[in-house]
Amino acid sequence: MMSIIHNLSLAVLIVIAFSCYNSILATPAPSKQSEASALLYSGWWSPSVAENTTIPHCAWPGVLCDASGSIDGIHLPYGYQIGGNLMNLTNLDLRGNQLCGSIPLEIGNLMSLIHLNLGRNQLSGSIPPEIGNLRSLSYLYFGGNQLGGSIPPEIGNLRSLIDLYLGGNQLGGSIPLEIGNLRSLTDLFLEGNQLENQLDGSIPPEIGNLRSLTYLYLGGNQLGGSIPPEIGNLRNLTCLYLRGNQLGGSIPPEIGNLRSLTILHLEENQLGGSIPQEIGNLTSLINLYLQENQLGGSIPPEIGNLTSLIHLYLQENKLSGSIPPEIGNLTSLIQLYLQENKLNGSIPSEIENLTSLIHLYLQENKLVGSIPLEIGNLTSLTYLILQGNQLSGSIPPGIGNLKSLTYLDMQGNQVGGSISPEIGNLRNLNYFHLQGNRLDGSIPPEIGNLMSLTYLYSQGNKLSGSIPLEIGNLRGLTLLYLQGNQLGGSIPLEIWNLMSLTYLDLQGNKLGGSIPSEIGNLRSLTYLNLQGNQLGGSIPSEIGNLRSLTYLNLQENQLDLDLHNNSLFGSIFIFTIFSYLNHLNLSYNRLKGPIPNNLRVVFPNAFLGNQDLNQFHKTQDPRRRIAYEDIIDATEDFDLKHCIGTGGYGSVYRTRLPNGKVVALKKLHRLEVEDSSFDESFRNEVKHLTEVRHISIIKLHDFCLHKRCMFLVYEYMENGSLFDTAHALSYMHNDCARPIVHRDISSNNILLNSKMQAFVLDFGTARLLDHNSSSNFTTNMDGTYGYIAPKLAYTLAVDVKCEVYSFGVVTMETVMGEHPGDIISILLTSSGKDIMLHKILDWRLPFPRENSVARSIV
Ligand SMILES: *[C@@H]1O[C@H](CO)[C@@H](O)[C@H](O)[C@H]1NC(C)=O
Ligand SMILES: *[C@@H]1O[C@H](CO)[C@@H](O)[C@H](O)[C@H]1NC(C)=O
Ligand SMILES: *[C@@H]1O[C@H](CO)[C@@H](O)[C@H](O)[C@H]1NC(C)=O
Ligand SMILES: *[C@@H]1O[C@H](CO)[C@@H](O)[C@H](O)[C@H]1NC(C)=O
Ligand SMILES: *[C@@H]1O[C@H](CO)[C@@H](O)[C@H](O)[C@H]1NC(C)=O
Ligand SMILES: *[C@@H]1O[C@H](CO)[C@@H](O)[C@H](O)[C@H]1NC(C)=O
Ligand SMILES: *[C@@H]1O[C@H](CO)[C@@H](O)[C@H](O)[C@H]1NC(C)=O
Ligand SMILES: *[C@@H]1O[C@H](CO)[C@@H](O)[C@H](O)[C@H]1NC(C)=O
Ligand SMILES: *[C@@H]1O[C@H](CO)[C@@H](O)[C@H](O)[C@H]1NC(C)=O
Ligand SMILES: *[C@@H]1O[C@H](CO)[C@@H](O)[C@H](O)[C@H]1NC(C)=O
Ligand SMILES: *[C@@H]1O[C@H](CO)[C@@H](O)[C@H](O)[C@H]1NC(C)=O
Repeated sequence: MMSIIHNLSLAVLIVIAFSCYNSILATPAPSKQSEASALLYSGWWSPSVAENTTIPHCAWPGVLCDASGSIDGIHLPYGYQIGGNLMNLTNLDLRGNQLCGSIPLEIGNLMSLIHLNLGRNQLSGSIPPEIGNLRSLSYLYFGGNQLGGSIPPEIGNLRSLIDLYLGGNQLGGSIPLEIGNLRSLTDLFLEGNQLENQLDGSIPPEIGNLRSLTYLYLGGNQLGGSIPPEIGNLRNLTCLYLRGNQLGGSIPPEIGNLRSLTILHLEENQLGGSIPQEIGNLTSLINLYLQENQLGGSIPPEIGNLTSLIHLYLQENKLSGSIPPEIGNLTSLIQLYLQENKLNGSIPSEIENLTSLIHLYLQENKLVGSIPLEIGNLTSLTYLILQGNQLSGSIPPGIGNLKSLTYLDMQGNQVGGSISPEIGNLRNLNYFHLQGNRLDGSIPPEIGNLMSLTYLYSQGNKLSGSIPLEIGNLRGLTLLYLQGNQLGGSIPLEIWNLMSLTYLDLQGNKLGGSIPSEIGNLRSLTYLNLQGNQLGGSIPSEIGNLRSLTYLNLQENQLDLDLHNNSLFGSIFIFTIFSYLNHLNLSYNRLKGPIPNNLRVVFPNAFLGNQDLNQFHKTQDPRRRIAYEDIIDATEDFDLKHCIGTGGYGSVYRTRLPNGKVVALKKLHRLEVEDSSFDESFRNEVKHLTEVRHISIIKLHDFCLHKRCMFLVYEYMENGSLFDTAHALSYMHNDCARPIVHRDISSNNILLNSKMQAFVLDFGTARLLDHNSSSNFTTNMDGTYGYIAPKLAYTLAVDVKCEVYSFGVVTMETVMGEHPGDIISILLTSSGKDIMLHKILDWRLPFPRENSVARSIV
């Protein structure tokens, strides 16, 4: 990085200067000849060198050339005596380097300078007052540095100045009055500083003296006060930028004198009063930006004289009255922004002339009447925003002409009638906002032609009939809001194929039929609201597919699911999306069966008003939900003394919860807990478990899926272990939709209730451990030692027969009153001796007296 510091000799500055000087002289493409002339012109080399034609300029002292013979640098040896007279230097152009430090005072010595450009460097410090010595200066560019301090009044001495560019610095203070002396100035660029209104100054009235000004840029400062009327003297002004200051007062009518003005930016100030009618004299205006002020009154009809206008921005003011019909004269307009005012009256039909218009923003005014038929003439429109007015009537059919439209927003008006079928022509439409109007009739099937549609908002109207199946053509639709209408029939199947849908809200209609299994297709869904309809049938288990695959971020992956106030029946199977649920409401349906406990805990009101739902917890204090901490407390962090058995997959604890209920807890071994792939299969299996209904299979009440541990909570069976499990196993193996292999049948997993009925415990856990075959659960494959079929130990292939083996062991254990141990392997070997029944039967029981009973046991 090159640097200019105060005590650096001017020679060094010149050295740097030269390479840049050369670069401006050389534009566009420097020839070697012109480079040589430039060197010569500098006068820095003595005539004995510079005028000796036998010495190529690349051989001059300090001149560095590239391979092609072009100068790419100058590095004068230390102590080199620069020839020539610097006083004669007229051009110094150092723009676009990386100069830092401040501008040396010595710059004031370059008395012949006409052109001084230090723009786009990193110069800091203040502008030295010595700059005022450069009486010949016509062009002064310091823009795009980090210059601070204030503008020295001495700048007023530069009477030859034509261009003054100090923009994009950090200049503070006020604009010196002396600037009014620069009578030759045509460009004054002070934009993007921190110039402010100290004392009363603001923009000094003296600026009105700069009668040659064509460009005046004072935007992006902190100028206060009001715009001096003297600005009206600047009759040659073509661009006036005062935007982004704190200018108050009103726009002086004298502005109407600026007949050469093409660009007028007064936006983002605090200008009040009304728009002076004299603005209509600025017939050369192309851009009129008055937005984000406090302008009141009405739009002067004279604005219609500004027939060159391309951009008219009057938004975010306090304009009232009606839109003058004269606006129709502005046939060159491309953008018309009148939004967020208090405009009343109707949209003038004269807008039909604005055929070049691309953006028409009229939102948030008080416009009344119908949308004019003539809107259909604005065939270039891409954005039509009428939102938040009081427009009535119906949607004019001509809207179908607006084939370029991508954004149509007429929400929050009082537009009635039906949605005209012509709407189907808007093939480029991306956003379609119709909500909050009085639209009735049915949705035309032509809506299916809007192939570019991404967002369709039509909630809060009076739409009836059924949702046209053609809506299924809108493959890119991510949002469909039709809630709060009077739509009937059933939801067309085609909706469930809109794979991009993220938000679907059909609540508060009269939709019947059922929710089809195709709902599972909507993998991107994060919001589904069908509440307050007449939907019947059951909640399809495919709803479990709604876990969004679109977002990796879990926060964005949340699903809001509201199906309340319908006539849904059947059981609740939404375990698989449990951790993604942000909101759940299934209340006031006809659901039955058990409520998954985790859901009940997290969404306590989600199940109200379903009479047939298992009300297990209903009578309990709601504060006594089973919490992880309760489990930890009750089991003293799974203390061994509460352990009543251990199997291959986990240990069983008996404990009493704070609510007084005695439960059996099966805590899974750590290995599974640590496997991330386990989570989903765990949830799947819990879901399967709830599907199984058998008198001999123990009821799962709750489960906890926690980082620290996972466990299942069962009803506790008072009588400990083991009895007839054959029916349960048979049911699992043969009667379930898919055979289910328990894989951990042992006496520990069979519990008896107070009526000595046996229950299979934690059924399904074994199978779920096998679910992800890519994981190695070899230790778990073993089940509980002593109950595993020898075949399983070799092949690791679990099947129904292995389970029957385990059951056999349990049966032997029942008969023997203890684990059969080696006896089984002895029995299995062909050489095995016969074993006498009386030697193995449980000695605590009386030996059967009758032979028939003994034979049955054998
Ligand atoms: C030009 O330069 C050459 C080489 O340095 C030198 O021999 C010659 O005397 C010079 N001629 C003049 C007129 O100075
Ligand atoms: C500087 O300009 C003056 C007046 O134009 C002239 O007399 C003088 O020779 C110039 N000096 C140099 C070194 O070119
Ligand atoms: C204004 O512009 C015109 C046309 O370019 C020019 O002739 C006239 O001198 C300018 N006025 C002033 C005060 O510079
Ligand atoms: C604006 O133009 C009209 C004529 O169109 C003229 O009478 C009026 O004086 C002008 N106003 C200003 C402020 O220039
Ligand atoms: C400017 O507009 C007003 C009102 O619309 C009109 O009376 C006047 O003739 C227009 N002036 C010019 C120069 O067009
Ligand atoms: C429109 O606003 C103006 C100014 O506020 C008011 O005088 C006029 O009565 C309003 N017109 C209608 C139709 O509301
Ligand atoms: C401007 O608009 C007014 C009112 O709509 C109209 O009478 C006049 O003819 C228009 N002027 C031009 C030049 O188009
Ligand atoms: C509309 O434009 C036509 C010609 O293009 C013109 O005659 C008519 O006055 C314009 N209407 C308005 C209201 O500006
Ligand atoms: C507006 O459209 C209608 C119907 O297409 C046409 O007759 C009329 O000339 C158009 N108006 C303008 C100003 O183009
Ligand atoms: C269910 O819907 C009906 C009809 O829309 C409504 O009256 C009722 O308040 C709703 N009930 C609940 C609980 O949301
Ligand atoms: C399971 O573990 C065995 C032994 O460590 C290994 O050879 C095998 O590749 C593993 N299988 C999988 C699916 O990880």
